[in-house]
Amino acid sequence: MSSRKIIIAPSILAGDFARVGEEVESVTAAGADWIHCDVMDGHFVDNISFGSAFVEGVSRHTKLPLDVHLMITRPDHYLPRYLSVASSITSHVEAGHDVADTLRRVREAGCQAGLAVSPPTDIARIEPYFGLFDILLIMTVNPGFGGQPFLPEMMEKVRFGDMLRTKHGLDFEIEVDGGINVETARTSIEAGANLLVAGTSVFRAADRAIEIEKLRCAAQSG
Ligand code: DX5
Ligand code: ZN
Repeated sequence: MSSRKIIIAPSILAGDFARVGEEVESVTAAGADWIHCDVMDGHFVDNISFGSAFVEGVSRHTKLPLDVHLMITRPDHYLPRYLSVASSITSHVEAGHDVADTLRRVREAGCQAGLAVSPPTDIARIEPYFGLFDILLIMTVNPGFGGQPFLPEMMEKVRFGDMLRTKHGLDFEIEVDGGINVETARTSIEAGANLLVAGTSVFRAADRAIEIEKLRCAAQSG
């Protein structure tokens, strides 16, 4: 289990887009640490969500860090549009770009650089980039849609990332994204994750503040 600070990042993808400002303010007031923004282009994943104008809109309703998750082809091309508004930018190892260069550019702009791995991808593909990222995002669903069930077999990747982090003496967060609720948060934290993206479980909760607190305490609530 990681001794790192637990970070709860509600995904605005699960919010009501017609009332995005209120939704962002709601989860900010409910105790979120970061706001996760899922950018999808209809090519890299089979869904279109929103782009940089929407993310800028989100930024006007919170002072929390924005965790931008690019599920797009050519993240290297679109990157500059997010650099001034994001706190962290995560791109996929599978997205067909010069991964090392993208990570370097994100860091040079003063953002945290994230590297994401989709469920079918061998975790060994991240090894050439060790030392170049601040966040390792292990997808716990196939990217593209909220509300999917958590894939427990991805915990092997979380444990592998945690093991390599220790072995190389590195310092990065391990983020899990997809199907995170109180139960799967506990499973993820036990495997070594500390950065929890939660869409449906937070936005559909009867009380968002209680849900966020429950997620934060998941490690102790077993
Ligand atoms: C999936 C996205 C997730 C999604 C999570 O492609 O990357 O961030 O919004 O939503 P839930 O928590 O509903 O699985
Ligand atoms: Zn995401």
